[in-house]
Amino acid sequence: MCLHLDPWWGSVCVCVCVCVCVCVKPLRSVAALSLSLSRSMDFLKLCTFETFQQLWSHYGYGGNFRDVIEQEFTRIKGITYLDHAAATLYPESLVRDYCQDMSRNVYGNPHSHSPSSRLTHDTVERVRYRVLQHFNTTPEEYSVIFTSGCTAALKLVAESFPWRPPTESEAGSHFCYLTDSHTSVVGMRGLTCSRGVAAVPVSPQELDNRTEDEAQGEDVICQTPHLFCYPAQSNFSGKKYPLSHVKGIQARRLYPACAHKGRWFVLLDAAALVSCSSLNLQTCPADFIPISFYKMFGFPTGLGALLVRNDAAGILKKTYFGGGTAAAYLSGEDYYVQAANISDRFEDGTVSFLDIIGVNHGFDALYRITGNMHNIQQHTFGLARYTYMLLSSLCHGNGRPVAQMYTEGQFESPVTQGAILNFNLTDSKGQIIGYAQVDRMASLYNIHVRTGCFCNTGACQSFLGITNEQMRRNLQAGHVCGDSLDLVDGQPTGSVRVSFGYMSTFEDCQKFLSFVVECFVEKPVTVDQVRLQKLKTATAASRGSDNHPSPKMTNGGICKVDEETATEASLKGFAHRDSNSHGEAYTLTNIYIYPIKSCGAYEVHDWPVGPLGLLYDRGWMVVNGNGVCLSQKREPRLCLIRPQVHLPSDKLLLRASGMDTISVPLQSKTQLHTSSQVCQSRVCGDRVETVDCGDEAALWLSDFLGQPCRLIRQRPDFTREMKKRPSGVAATTSLSLVNEAQYLMINRASGELIHKLMSCRQDDSEANQLLDTENVISRFRANLVIAGVEPFEEDNWSHLIIGSTQFLVAGRCGRCQMVGVDQDTGTKTKEPLTSLSAYRTGKITFGVYLTHQLPEDSAAACVLSVGSLIKPEPHSC
Ligand SMILES: Cc1ncc(COP(=O)(O)O)c(C=O)c1O
Repeated sequence: MCLHLDPWWGSVCVCVCVCVCVCVKPLRSVAALSLSLSRSMDFLKLCTFETFQQLWSHYGYGGNFRDVIEQEFTRIKGITYLDHAAATLYPESLVRDYCQDMSRNVYGNPHSHSPSSRLTHDTVERVRYRVLQHFNTTPEEYSVIFTSGCTAALKLVAESFPWRPPTESEAGSHFCYLTDSHTSVVGMRGLTCSRGVAAVPVSPQELDNRTEDEAQGEDVICQTPHLFCYPAQSNFSGKKYPLSHVKGIQARRLYPACAHKGRWFVLLDAAALVSCSSLNLQTCPADFIPISFYKMFGFPTGLGALLVRNDAAGILKKTYFGGGTAAAYLSGEDYYVQAANISDRFEDGTVSFLDIIGVNHGFDALYRITGNMHNIQQHTFGLARYTYMLLSSLCHGNGRPVAQMYTEGQFESPVTQGAILNFNLTDSKGQIIGYAQVDRMASLYNIHVRTGCFCNTGACQSFLGITNEQMRRNLQAGHVCGDSLDLVDGQPTGSVRVSFGYMSTFEDCQKFLSFVVECFVEKPVTVDQVRLQKLKTATAASRGSDNHPSPKMTNGGICKVDEETATEASLKGFAHRDSNSHGEAYTLTNIYIYPIKSCGAYEVHDWPVGPLGLLYDRGWMVVNGNGVCLSQKREPRLCLIRPQVHLPSDKLLLRASGMDTISVPLQSKTQLHTSSQVCQSRVCGDRVETVDCGDEAALWLSDFLGQPCRLIRQRPDFTREMKKRPSGVAATTSLSLVNEAQYLMINRASGELIHKLMSCRQDDSEANQLLDTENVISRFRANLVIAGVEPFEEDNWSHLIIGSTQFLVAGRCGRCQMVGVDQDTGTKTKEPLTSLSAYRTGKITFGVYLTHQLPEDSAAACVLSVGSLIKPEPHSC
């Protein structure tokens, strides 16, 4: 065998190398020598990027892929990393952004209620959304339970599935798994067997051949729960199993479900699939989906998730309860009520919150570099297919194949095959070369592959033809999983796996093939042209499409409740009282809109009423680098941003002291039809669909606030409904990005009263910050300010009419430390909360929420005007 450490192709020395290799073999004729040289050159030609491109057109992600790789993966220079199925590599920007995030923000334990804890909680919630979004589903359908990895997620299902052992009258549950499963799936058997539950291994052939034409359906009488587990992609061969099996099993059309009555649940092991492919849970409603995040972005490790279909979550039963999982429990008695929220219920103790935040940066980096999962799938499949074609056509000088490939198909399509090649090399006599020898040589060349059985004994036995008896004998011969005893009696105990990742390059394929040729091919190198031709024409059926478009991933954001509220309105008829007990008229003195949630007010004199409240009020919000909604609680300087809605030019102007004014269009319709990113965000626990307003606004905000942020707006066709519908209101109330209700109305007299109280209480530390009434009023961030009313009189109203527009009082507005932010300076004071809470015992409220009641057929738009008279109707109690 010729061992030569120089690169094999692309230069004159290649030919010399080939000649030398040939020369050390038994003497050949000159004609034979020149023939072998030309065959070698054939192979050299096959190993060019030009040939690759003729075979597969999807390479890289647009832009200069080589530059991106150089910038993001400088550490792998000189290394050919081909073990992505074990763990892919993180890009440098991921860890850089993560470190910046960690050094910029204070993340407390998410179970506390401090501002730092809220930040963690909100960011973790945002990551849950992002995970669901990535798999094209929603919190209404699935929950994300964070675990330490895929294996822990599998164990969680094994431990909490309601296994029923057989009884005299009932056959009991079945735990069924595809034999081509990872050890961590098969290992669930340890638990089920100990509970007397039958474990049924199912071979891929059985699954295909023993199906019923008709769906057997769920049995109404027999509700015995059964579980079928299968991998979405084999971690051994890269074979992708049909996702349609999920519905097939649930409907009891497929074996083994068609053979056993009861309720069938499906666990889809997606750990291997998700590193290079999308998974659409809309079309594949598996009940349990375990994953590990390092397989997707390389960082963080030690973190995975179990995605659970909400409809299936109810059957999982827990015995242990850890911190955070209980709604209530008694320490002195066996009393425990589990948390209502599915994620809370199963996440024992404190989740690995900093790692979870790392997932956000993982998604950011992955999408930034690749665009989407579909692109990754096309890129990696192309590399794997090309390597497969060449390796499986490669022959020794005597015409014998160099590799024995372990694959079911022939890399026809990325729908059925992932970016994994599994094989053993053979010598020119057809003898297997042990995987450990290949591994050692590969290490010498700095090529990183995986060898052995890959924690998938089922597939290993099936592909390598190892019987159970032989497995036992191999153990007796001293072979254990993961060791280097690669051949027993000349038979392989394992194989070699090469796997590609989103950042693999054509050079990786070249280097690997070069290595095989240099180290393991008896020269001259020949190619089985017939086979190669066949592979070339075996069209990748769905080349260019995988029928699983990945949902667009964007930087959504969430915002949790900033202000607690009490909703106590009731619906009654109107009376027409329009003055206070002193005969003063009730009037509307100020109208404010807050186009961007938590930013400064824009005062107007007359303003149209839109479907969600005052037109454009809280139509936009600012999210941080993790897509989490920023509020003044976290970023008081938001109040210094003074957005202005300029109706004549159809623009939202962004203004702030020291900054050039910029604008974004008001008309969101145009945005919808452009390539604007659609995000899912959170406002007060509600999911809202938003669109990103582009880089200019993002840069402007980031510049002003000194941290990465973006401006997003509510999608105009997205309806968010008010959670607490006031009693008596038939129709639902649609909301913008407000916290609670369409309008917030405060009473000037209440503000004046609080100001007076503050003046009396003023302590030394805040003596020089004596606030005036207007300053106090501005801190309560009302839409409507009214006058002529006794302090807090509005608390007792149920309805009112302002001008000609009818409103319903939807509850009182609870207050928190956010009123401490001086809206003129962005500084924080203890007042007016201190005086307000001293005056208002119990729930600290100030002002009331309103919902408009527009006539259904109102063609003429309502307009509110300063100076309008107000006619309130008090509660009748
Ligand atoms: C298909 C499959 N399932 C499960 C696992 C176990 O994942 P982890 O070791 O991250 O828990 C793996 C790991 O490679 C895998 O490929």
